[in-house]
Amino acid sequence: MKFKDSHILTVDQFERKDFEKIIKTSAFMEKALKENDRETLTLLEGNVIATLFYEPSTRTKLSFQSAISRLSGRVISETSIQFSSMYKGETSYDTAQMVSNYADAIIMRHPDDHSVEQFSHGSKVPVINAGDGSHEHPTQALLDLYTIFKEKQSLDNITISFIGDLKYGRTVHSLIKVLLNFENVTFKFISPKSISLPQYILDRVEEHGNVYIETEDLQKGLEKTDVVYMTRIQKERFESQEEYLKYHGVYIIDQSVLKDIDENAIIMHPLPRIGEITQEVDKDPRAKYFDQAANGVFVRMALLTLCLGKIKS
Ligand code: NCD
Repeated sequence: MKFKDSHILTVDQFERKDFEKIIKTSAFMEKALKENDRETLTLLEGNVIATLFYEPSTRTKLSFQSAISRLSGRVISETSIQFSSMYKGETSYDTAQMVSNYADAIIMRHPDDHSVEQFSHGSKVPVINAGDGSHEHPTQALLDLYTIFKEKQSLDNITISFIGDLKYGRTVHSLIKVLLNFENVTFKFISPKSISLPQYILDRVEEHGNVYIETEDLQKGLEKTDVVYMTRIQKERFESQEEYLKYHGVYIIDQSVLKDIDENAIIMHPLPRIGEITQEVDKDPRAKYFDQAANGVFVRMALLTLCLGKIKS
């Protein structure tokens, strides 16, 4: 695809060569930061980027803002729907028209599925989806991909185990779709049946012909896997606290579980963790979740410079 002037709304818009381009550009950004390469680190000089976060966020919001600052751009931001005109009833189309006069790109997180795509119809500048309800989180999937590539040196022939809230976990949905672009990826889906993967994603995996298993058994799901992708139960998507509490704490990776994980595997988590991985696991060399979060800055630097046409796509 052509990155310049494009929105980033779903991972479905990319194909293998686009993922490779993003990985290459992210590595370039990582190196530019390390070497303090001023030419690269001023690519967004004179640009203003709007970050509209209508749902809680720490990593995504701050790593986007950090990426913009590292590239010498400026940020304008909104962090609460209550203080925005949308709260007064302004349509998302009108808000998009307005904000795209104030900024050269817009990064948006919103609690409703497909809302960011809807918003993009009113925008004259690239819109980047930073998470829309339980639908997708494309930029997280891209930083997950970059992390797997850095750690395993390949995206083909891997086995990945997704654990936890596979129903509402948007990062899981996006990453599975991304991995279908690579060869011979085996999936293990570990969750209680009632919060298992949505059927439409399972259908995609089946249509693709990938080998997969669904299980409730953590130990079985961890056997012979290269990547362990743990997730939080998405509390905010449940109808009641009681419903949420049925699942919270069902799967925990602690010291005693580490013996079931291959010695060359990596352990990932999009974070925040709410007890699913205990702190004692952090010192294990397989624990990569904080590196994963750090990679978010490089990947977001890559996406912004590509979408704003600062780097050839
Ligand atoms: C994720 C999200 O917002 O979907 N967080 C993040 O962006 N790293 C995962 C989560 O909230 O559980």
